[in-house]
Amino acid sequence: MGHERSPSDEPAWATHHRNSFLQRFGGDPEGVRLFFAPGRVNLFGGHLDYNGGPVMPTAIDRGTFLALRPRPDRVLHLESRMDSQGLRFDIDRVPRERCGRWVDYPVGVIRELLAWQAERRPEMHLQGLDILFGGNLPVGAGLSSSASICVGTAFALSEVWDLGLSRREQVHSALDAERGFVGVQCGIMDPYAIGMAKPGHLLWLDCKDQSYEHLPIDFDRLSIVVANSGVQRELAAGEFNKRVAQCAQAFQALRRYAPEAQVLRDVAPETFESHRVRLEPTLARRAQHVVNEVERTFLAREALLRGDLEELGGFMTATHRSLRDNFEVSSPELDLLVEAAIECDGCYGSRLTGAGFGGCTVLLADPASVPAIVEHVRQRYAAEKGWHPDIEVFQGDEGPRTIGA
Ligand code: GLA
Repeated sequence: MGHERSPSDEPAWATHHRNSFLQRFGGDPEGVRLFFAPGRVNLFGGHLDYNGGPVMPTAIDRGTFLALRPRPDRVLHLESRMDSQGLRFDIDRVPRERCGRWVDYPVGVIRELLAWQAERRPEMHLQGLDILFGGNLPVGAGLSSSASICVGTAFALSEVWDLGLSRREQVHSALDAERGFVGVQCGIMDPYAIGMAKPGHLLWLDCKDQSYEHLPIDFDRLSIVVANSGVQRELAAGEFNKRVAQCAQAFQALRRYAPEAQVLRDVAPETFESHRVRLEPTLARRAQHVVNEVERTFLAREALLRGDLEELGGFMTATHRSLRDNFEVSSPELDLLVEAAIECDGCYGSRLTGAGFGGCTVLLADPASVPAIVEHVRQRYAAEKGWHPDIEVFQGDEGPRTIGA
């Protein structure tokens, strides 16, 4: 998306990031360590994670780069390549309040890691660090740049400070930082998709019991293409939290008819249909999406395992329509990208990805058809909106790691 390096050219990005670190902080190149954490694209299970449902995302070969170097004191100095304003503070005086900028994400994670260390490894002495963040993931586009920063921070600091957090603990530090400190009531999908990634596989995550498995995907038969509408609706975080609250309300109303249910995902479609009239119409539409989407996600899993790509894509497009009509998180730009994609030969299906309210769509396609699909979608979007959207093919990724050692 307008980058000078190809997205997956990791060595080039690593060199560039190391050089940027040295420009920013000066000093000795020895001792600078580099890390990478991917973003993710969600393919199946839209807005199900915070309803305890199943989801099927994959990590992508784009994400966050971190360069770190220990300091002789106890200062943490955070800078970003995307923002001229960094933040410095002492390890013993980590900010308690968010400031409304990107640093809230790493600061939230640092608070989690320090709490973990105080409880589990209180004998450890932690050194200060200079840290530079950067990345090749569009920010706020539904590809989970925030979870990528958070999981990347948890992973890199756990390594550099030698804390020894398990991967699941890193994922939960990232999650608790976003929920507790940043204040977005996000579900567990994004940090799990990033933290538990395996190349050549989708992650099947059951958000009720947090169990997961890896399902193979054949990139020779199926391309994952992401189209960026370039439009982000204001107040998206507020709208997201509103959906979370509406689903909780719908569940409260329905659970008396489904006494066994622990989360909205447990309410059977027939139970919902029998009692939908008792719900206020907006809540009924939200619950309608959730109960149908749970079924669709299980069916999509079966179609994937059978290799039935037409059927798999059909579920994806059905998800989009439900997110548009029942969950009301789409936008005219996202609808246009989806409709333009699915009218092409070789496109199996398409939907908005992430929370919605702008950002990106994803489509699944026969690799041989991708150039024609990209061309068609770009032209149709430009004809109606006046400019060409960025559209790219993404590969999977192996998750957080040390790079360019
Ligand atoms: C955002 C949230 C996720 C998930 C998706 C919708 O990306 O961070 O937890 O709820 O929206 O599927």
